[in-house]
Amino acid sequence: MTVQHNFRKPLLTTTNLTMQFGGLKALNSVDLSINEGQIFGLIGPNGAGKTTFFNMLTGIYRPTSGDVILDNTSIVGKTPAEIANAGTIRTFQTCRLWDNMSILENLLLGTYMREKPGLFQTLFQYTKVKTDFTRKAEEALAVVEKFDPALASDYNRKVSELSLVDRRRVEISRAILARPRLLLLDEPAAGMDPSETRQLMGDITKLQERYPKMSILVIEHDMTVISGMAEQVAILNFGTKIAQGTFDEVKNNPEVIAAYLGGE
Ligand SMILES: Nc1ncnc2c1ncn2[C@@H]1O[C@H](COP(=O)(O)OP(=O)(O)OP(=O)(O)O)[C@@H](O)[C@H]1O
Ligand SMILES: [Mg+2]
Repeated sequence: MTVQHNFRKPLLTTTNLTMQFGGLKALNSVDLSINEGQIFGLIGPNGAGKTTFFNMLTGIYRPTSGDVILDNTSIVGKTPAEIANAGTIRTFQTCRLWDNMSILENLLLGTYMREKPGLFQTLFQYTKVKTDFTRKAEEALAVVEKFDPALASDYNRKVSELSLVDRRRVEISRAILARPRLLLLDEPAAGMDPSETRQLMGDITKLQERYPKMSILVIEHDMTVISGMAEQVAILNFGTKIAQGTFDEVKNNPEVIAAYLGGE
């Protein structure tokens, strides 16, 4: 008998995950499991509960009930910082960069995010800090360069001067520099035209080739946008998961079609 060692284990599992805001169940008993190294798409019309789901995975909201397991450990009740340290890093639906800071400065925030508090001791060791800084800057630029070499060569540019797609690339690079095991992207293509959207989706697919163990959970409003990249998709509608499978498996599901027709 051959034993297969190359199966992938689940990195993140949610069970009966529920979030109630007053009388509204924004998320209703959602079970989801994402494997190591998988690109997973979370899709649904406006108000379906997608961002609320991210907010529970990252500790911004504490679920009303249910559990979130990251690598065999429940993260419910942990702070956003503890969850980030455990390897879950997100980007936001509206780009969150420091507009008056340069590309490099924004990126360095990502590399310093994963530092332990002991770093501050080294603040008094100038030479060590200087070499450390150079190393981090080089690492940061190497990551952003993979998206677009111009972003690395123009590292002193203020991010406020960049196009939306380049701002997203900086934001995603910053997240990558925090070395996530699970990268959460909340509508990364929001506000982009179809050609920019295609470029960005191509970039995200390439990320996975570069970091094969990292799992990526992408929220998208428009199902077709992630059709070519997500191995699995789950569809949310009014807080309930109504379908899951490959894009081809779910696209003709009558409930999914109805959810989209109802929403538009
Ligand atoms: N903090 C909150 N308090 C009360 N209601 C909330 C809160 N956050 C979200 N909601 C509600 O929960 C529901 C789900 O919202 P959510 O932002 O998760 O949807 P979404 O799927 O991300 O939508 P979109 O595609 O528009 O981003 C909505 O009805 C929203 O109004
Ligand atoms: Mg949202």
